[in-house]
Amino acid sequence: MRPTLPHPLLSRLSEFLAAQTGLHFPEERWGDLERGIAAAVPDFDLADAESCARWLLSAPLTRHMSEVLASHLSIGETYFFREKQSLEILGEQVLLQLLQSRRQNERRLRIWSAGCSTGEEAYTIAILLDRLLPALKEWNITILATDFNPKFLRKAAQGVYGEWSFRDAPGWLRERYFNKSSDGRFEIHPRIRKMVTFSYLNFADDVYPSLSNNTSAMDVILCRNVLMYFTAQRAKQVAGNFYRALVDGGWLIVSPTEVSHSLFSPFTPVEFPGAVLYRKMAGAGSQPLVSGHPVSLWCGEADAAPPMPPVVPTEPPAAALSMLPHPAPSAANLSDAQADQVPAHQADEREASSRLARSRANQGRLSEALEWCEKAIAADKLNPAHQYLLATILQEQGRHDIAIQSLMRALYLDPDFVLAHFSLGNLHQSQGRYRQAQRYFGNVLVLLRKHPPDEILPEADGLTAGRLVEIVTSLLESLPQPVAASA
Ligand SMILES: C[S@@+](CC[C@H](N)C(=O)[O-])C[C@H]1O[C@@H](n2cnc3c(N)ncnc32)[C@H](O)[C@@H]1O
Repeated sequence: MRPTLPHPLLSRLSEFLAAQTGLHFPEERWGDLERGIAAAVPDFDLADAESCARWLLSAPLTRHMSEVLASHLSIGETYFFREKQSLEILGEQVLLQLLQSRRQNERRLRIWSAGCSTGEEAYTIAILLDRLLPALKEWNITILATDFNPKFLRKAAQGVYGEWSFRDAPGWLRERYFNKSSDGRFEIHPRIRKMVTFSYLNFADDVYPSLSNNTSAMDVILCRNVLMYFTAQRAKQVAGNFYRALVDGGWLIVSPTEVSHSLFSPFTPVEFPGAVLYRKMAGAGSQPLVSGHPVSLWCGEADAAPPMPPVVPTEPPAAALSMLPHPAPSAANLSDAQADQVPAHQADEREASSRLARSRANQGRLSEALEWCEKAIAADKLNPAHQYLLATILQEQGRHDIAIQSLMRALYLDPDFVLAHFSLGNLHQSQGRYRQAQRYFGNVLVLLRKHPPDEILPEADGLTAGRLVEIVTSLLESLPQPVAASA
């Protein structure tokens, strides 16, 4: 389609969208841009594409507006077992090594499918893990899958797919992991569906990594076929956020066409046959990967695939970046390495302990984080922020009931603690207690009336009051409505 809107308008709109959503519409894609805006006209109840474009430009996008635009402008092309080579390396090298190294201690693994579209990538990872780990139940596995297109997220959460999603999938996939529904579509086994948590995240919002949206301490981030639609500047910023979201030694996987050492400059590129992965090597140094007998995840036979060579980094490790989730005033602006060196007796003991708890949690060292947090609580029993931090760590360990108790204690100490209400809402929602979730989300909205929209909330990793109102409003809208009692 040839664009018909005035060129200066399209130019301003493409710049605006790049800033607000990260999406890049160079001149050769203005036809796509105009088509997307025209499709959004009825959603915004406007007269035509031109008035819609001018209206969009008049103020920053709200979450609702970004969601509508995302549903018309983003490209959701995806399928199961896409780009098999990187997935083979992920399964047979990266995951296998992680699982072996954690088998004896903390049985925990955190993976993020960033820009997950309709969920095929995230479920592919869940299936890889299911095949790698017979004792799956004994592990605390997080597979977070985020996108900014709510339609994609809804479809992903349903887990029902047509033939086209299996166009490059191994033959056994449908048979072993899906049930055929009456309309000829394929529904993923509930066991696998439950392994993945889908949630909204716009990469253009600087709200990650953060303990509050579960985007920190990741072992592996897959962000494939997403950044290629972004401006270089935005893609670099997102790559920087991913770097901070990973634990030391963690991996970033992009698609082969997105490999760019300048874009991912904080990372160490690691070359495998047929794929380059990026690794965060902030100081701990790389641990050699196993190269013994990888399990073949593709054909079911344990010895069918040739062993992969061990990892050979091609460049020296990049400089360490601070992983502290948010810069609090005073001494909290230290990096993790610096935080480690603060003797508790020298600095304010309470502050040092909570900072160390936070930094350990960020690195995924949850048992240590818990110990430091308990020390912080012992030294300062009346501080609700410590209880909140404890709840966040417990939540990451999958100990939801005890996390709820800590949040209740935080609210006992400070009934106006917005983030504690928000977390309680999320926890109840995730456990299907929608009425309670509604109550806590409602509390958040009431409390936020006292805060100006641009105020950064305490313990919220840079999240503003206005943004949280949008998030909570949208969460409330998505909660199942209570069924009316029949007469
Ligand atoms: C082509 S799909 C890739 C899906 C999957 N990663 C794969 O490789 O098969 C790109 C996804 O990125 C999402 N996306 C684009 N811009 C985004 C943004 N600013 N924030 C979050 N997600 C975004 C789109 O909604 C879309 O679902």
